[in-house]
Amino acid sequence: MRTIVVTGGTHGIGEGLVRHYRAAGHRVIAAGSTVTPGPDTLRADLSSPAATLRLAAALPDRIDALVLAAFRYAPTRVSTAEGLERTFALYVLSRFLLAEALLPSLERGEDSAIAPGPTPMIINLCGTGAGRGLDWSDLQLARTRYRPMTAVLRGAHANDLLGAAFAQKHPEARTRYVLYNPGMVDTGLERAFRGPARLLVAAASRVLAAPVSRAVPPITRLIDSPPPAPLSAFRAGRPLPTTGPTFDPPSALRLTALLRNLA
Ligand SMILES: NC(=O)c1ccc[n+]([C@@H]2O[C@H](COP(=O)([O-])OP(=O)(O)OC[C@H]3O[C@@H](n4cnc5c(N)ncnc54)[C@H](OP(=O)(O)O)[C@@H]3O)[C@@H](O)[C@H]2O)c1
Repeated sequence: MRTIVVTGGTHGIGEGLVRHYRAAGHRVIAAGSTVTPGPDTLRADLSSPAATLRLAAALPDRIDALVLAAFRYAPTRVSTAEGLERTFALYVLSRFLLAEALLPSLERGEDSAIAPGPTPMIINLCGTGAGRGLDWSDLQLARTRYRPMTAVLRGAHANDLLGAAFAQKHPEARTRYVLYNPGMVDTGLERAFRGPARLLVAAASRVLAAPVSRAVPPITRLIDSPPPAPLSAFRAGRPLPTTGPTFDPPSALRLTALLRNLA
């Protein structure tokens, strides 16, 4: 029995993964910000670095796979109680903090001494391959006009850098880091919109987006059989290069140094 942690495991793709692994008999811990807590369901607002670190401390000390899937689309700029821009805090900062805090638990892995289990892994569900630059002087869109897609695409770039930094900083780790862009998946993005925009997004999703049931199997294949490379990237099951500006090693370390100071 493996232990799998899924942030954002209470809806959409994360929930699909939780159902899959629970049905297969594994221990799966799901986290979300609005869920009713239970034995393997934890409530944590991951746009708060303090709550993110509390969640990490509450998790088992042996973990086989960490799925980072907590996300919320923000049509307008939201400032958190700690004064952070919410998309950046949830999509970038919390993912950095969780990967670093849980690495020792992943390295311990389940059963590794008794019967070697699958390689431990972090799978970060994000927009890898879609990143479009970072503004280092304004990472949280405080001075630039806030546009939701700018926040999302910069977050995609930043998540590629998180993967690149993880592989650089932990060259001896057994834990593999996988960046995974599921492509467009129908998980109810229209919930973030009001009025006619809501109807439009819902209609477009039904036509253009894949159902969760189709998005989950390529992800479980990676979790069950992690790629050998310390860092890899995929879009809808197909490998992507981990080179180019969004994987630039000095930028990766620069970002994580900035993130450490924010937590
Ligand atoms: N769906 C797509 O088309 C698509 C495309 C590219 C990438 N992705 C990536 O895939 C991942 C999953 O996407 P999805 O569409 O399946 O998401 P989703 O259905 O919108 O579900 C988001 C999950 O995140 C949780 N969440 C939101 N805010 C949170 C917070 N502050 N703290 C803790 N948990 C929070 C939600 O639970 P609560 O509401 O209880 O907080 C929910 O469980 C995301 O990382 C997304 O970036 C998705």
